[in-house]
Amino acid sequence: GGDSAAGSGGNGGSDGTITMGFAQVGAESGWRTANTDSIKQSAEDAGVELQFSDAQQKQENQISAIRTYIQQKVDVIAFSPVVETGWDAVLQEAKAAGIPVILTDRAVDVQDDSLYVTFLGSDFVEEGQKAGQWLVDNAAEADADGDGDVNVVELQGTTGAAPAIDRKEGFEEVIADDDTISISQSQTGDFTRDGGKQVMEAFLQNEPEGIDVVYAHNDDMGLGAIEAIEAAGLTPGEDIKIITVDAVKDGMQALADGKINFIVECNPLLGPQLMELAEKVVAGEEVESRVVTEETTFTQEQAAEALPDRQY
Ligand code: AHR
Repeated sequence: GGDSAAGSGGNGGSDGTITMGFAQVGAESGWRTANTDSIKQSAEDAGVELQFSDAQQKQENQISAIRTYIQQKVDVIAFSPVVETGWDAVLQEAKAAGIPVILTDRAVDVQDDSLYVTFLGSDFVEEGQKAGQWLVDNAAEADADGDGDVNVVELQGTTGAAPAIDRKEGFEEVIADDDTISISQSQTGDFTRDGGKQVMEAFLQNEPEGIDVVYAHNDDMGLGAIEAIEAAGLTPGEDIKIITVDAVKDGMQALADGKINFIVECNPLLGPQLMELAEKVVAGEEVESRVVTEETTFTQEQAAEALPDRQY
């Protein structure tokens, strides 16, 4: 920590305590709640003084939270950017104030990479690829109506968000290898359960027959889709196969219950690594510019096995 740097600006408070301003996306999903809990708990464990804000999925709220942290002269700013673009100005302000910025979970699209020190989070393209690979490997079984075409509907995450862009890209790249698989409808459900339910209702109305697969960019939207599918008198997991990303408890339960068919894990427990990085950055030590989270995938059998020990 900043013990040896007491009193010097940007190197921890006079007692060596690091103050971190964290601008969270919101509380849109089970994943996000687990992520917030992890960050708060790890800050407490590491003795980092945390200023925390919830932007309710609005970029303007995140930008004003970051501006507040700059005014407060925190030692380090960390945030999970709701969308990829539009961060240049506020990150320039942080840089001008000499406050290091750590990206967690989601990336930004900026011209100048020196505007942040490091990015800690998942490889979302790879997550999309894993989802697509499962479908390619299980295409025959996924074609529930046996018409030779695997008709996929896609529930996208928040428009412009890194995980929505990258999970779409990775999935499309892999399914392109199999001409029997195609996406007939694709819309955002904003990473929420309610959004997933409403968009799935519309998908089912547009195409009452013939939907074979739902690819949801997170568990919550997949869980919302399950409600819509059941309300339409169909059986999720059988009549319509469901692939999601995250592996939070509710998702894993639905997977073990046979309502979801495959989940690609996205690890929300970023707190401990974030605090470690923050301590190094504030102490002026070098850190890797990209830290990728390790993740796995779950089938129905694997979910049933993993559930009892699942923390979130
Ligand atoms: O950025 C990570 C994504 O954000 C999670 O997969 C999703 O559940 C959350 O809302």
